[in-house]
Amino acid sequence: MKLSIIGTGYVGLTTGACFAEVGHEVTCVDNNQEKVQMLLDGKIPIYEPGLAELVTRNVNAGRLKFTTSTAEGVRDGEVIFIAVPTPPQADGSVDLSFIERVAREIAESLKPEYGYRVIVDKSTVPVKTGQKVSDTVRRYAPAGVQFGVASNPEFLREGCAVDDLLHPDRIVFGANDEQALDLMRRCYDPFVAPILVTDIESAELIKHAANSFLALKISYINAVARICEKSGADIEKVAEGIGMDKRIGRSFLNAGLGYGGSCFPKDIKAFIAISESLGYPFDLLKQVEDINASQLELFLDKIRENLWVLQEKKIALWGLTFKQNTDDVRESVAIKLAQRMIAEGAAITTWDPRGMDTAKRFGNLGDKITYADDMYSCLDGADALVIGTEWPEFTNADLSELKARMHSPLVFDGRNLLDPQTMANQGIEYHSVGRATLAPEQGSPSA
Ligand SMILES: NC(=O)c1ccc[n+]([C@@H]2O[C@H](COP(=O)([O-])OP(=O)(O)OC[C@H]3O[C@@H](n4cnc5c(N)ncnc54)[C@H](O)[C@@H]3O)[C@@H](O)[C@H]2O)c1
Repeated sequence: MKLSIIGTGYVGLTTGACFAEVGHEVTCVDNNQEKVQMLLDGKIPIYEPGLAELVTRNVNAGRLKFTTSTAEGVRDGEVIFIAVPTPPQADGSVDLSFIERVAREIAESLKPEYGYRVIVDKSTVPVKTGQKVSDTVRRYAPAGVQFGVASNPEFLREGCAVDDLLHPDRIVFGANDEQALDLMRRCYDPFVAPILVTDIESAELIKHAANSFLALKISYINAVARICEKSGADIEKVAEGIGMDKRIGRSFLNAGLGYGGSCFPKDIKAFIAISESLGYPFDLLKQVEDINASQLELFLDKIRENLWVLQEKKIALWGLTFKQNTDDVRESVAIKLAQRMIAEGAAITTWDPRGMDTAKRFGNLGDKITYADDMYSCLDGADALVIGTEWPEFTNADLSELKARMHSPLVFDGRNLLDPQTMANQGIEYHSVGRATLAPEQGSPSA
C-alpha cells in the first residue's frame, strides 16, 4: 500500500520505517526542513536501536522517502497518518493546534481525483478529536473529495520502538466507516499481532487510559517503597512477590525516581483534564501525579541529609535521559535532578551513554555542569555519585574503580540498579529507594 506520515519524529520516523520494512511504500513528511535534509543526507536525527539500519535499508529499496511537502504526502498516501506533537498547555489540557493545522493542510491538499483517503490520527489525542479532525477536513477540503477518519493510537516505547512496532502486543484502531476500517486492516495485514477494532472514541480513550494505568503502577510501587523504608522491608522483594501474581505482572513495578519522558507526564495531565471536562474529576490520577512529583523531593532530601549542604559539593551524575536506550531527555527526571542540585550550588559532572548531546541542546542545564569523557572519569574526586537513569552500564559498573576514583564512596541510586549488600561489602555507602542502607564494610543495617 502507499502510506504517508505527517510528522517525522520519534513516532513518525520509526512507524514509517517499520511500515516500509513490511513492504508498504511510505512517504514521511515533516515541516522541519533541517530534519528532512538530515534524513535525505542519510543521517538519522534520533537514536533508537535498530532504526538507522531500517531506514537505510528501506530508503535504498525505494520504499521510504522524505519530504517537507504535505501536499506530496496527501497525493502519494491512500492512508495518511498524523504523528505530530500534542504537548500540554499550562492547565494540563492538550494543545491540539498541531493536529488542527495538519488537518487543514491535508484538507487543502486533497483533490477529488485522488479518490478515497483515510486520515489516521496516530498522535495521542483527547477522546472526540477524530470528530474534530473530520469536521475540519470537511470544512477546508474542496467539494467532491472522499475521505474517512480513523484513530490508531501508538503504544511504542522509546528505547525499543522498532521491536515494539514490528512485534506489537496489540494493534488498536477505530473508525466510523467500513471503507476506512478496510484500509486500516490492509495496512496492518503484514503484522502478526492481535488486532482490536473499535469506534474512534474508544480507540482514542484506550491510549490515555493505558498510559495512566502504567503511571499508576509506578506511583503505586513508589508509595509502597515509602512504607518499606519506614518498616525495614525491601521493595525489590515486595515488587517480586506482587509481580509473580499473573493478574498483576512484574513490569512497571520498579521503585525509583518516578516516571518522566515526553509521554507519561503529559498524558496523565491530559487524562485528568479530559475527565474533568467531561464532568468526572479523576482524583486517583491526581494522587498518581502527586506521588510522582514528591518522589524526586524525597530523593533530594536523602542527598541533603547525607551531604548536609550541596553548596560546593562535587557530585557525579550518571544518566541524563528519561530512560535507558534512548537519547531523549524530554521531561527527564535525571535532568530535573541535575537542575535542582545545580540550583543548590553543587558542582555537577555528568555522563550518559546517549544523552550528552541532547542534554546540551535541550536540557536547560546552563554552563554550571561538566560533561565527562566517560563514566569513570565522571567520578574523579566526587563527594557523591547520583544515579538518575537505568542504563545497564551502571548496573555493571566496576565498583573498585568507582571507589578509587571518588573522594568519598557515597552513592545515591535513584533507580535501584545496584545491590545494597555488594555495595556494603565494597565499603561503599549506598542509598537507594525502598531498601535499607547497610553500613559499609560490615554489611549490617545502620539506619
Ligand atoms: N515518543 C513516544 O514514545 C510516543 C509514543 C506513543 C505516542 N506518542 C505520541 O505521538 C505524537 C508524536 O510524538 P513524537 O514523540 O513523535 O513527537 P516528535 O516531537 O518527536 O515529532 C513530531 C514531529 O512532527 C513535526 N511536525 C510538527 N508540525 C508539523 C506539521 N504541521 N507538518 C509536518 N510535520 C510537523 C515536528 O517537526 C516533529 O518532527 C504525540 O502525540 C505523542 O504523544 C509518542
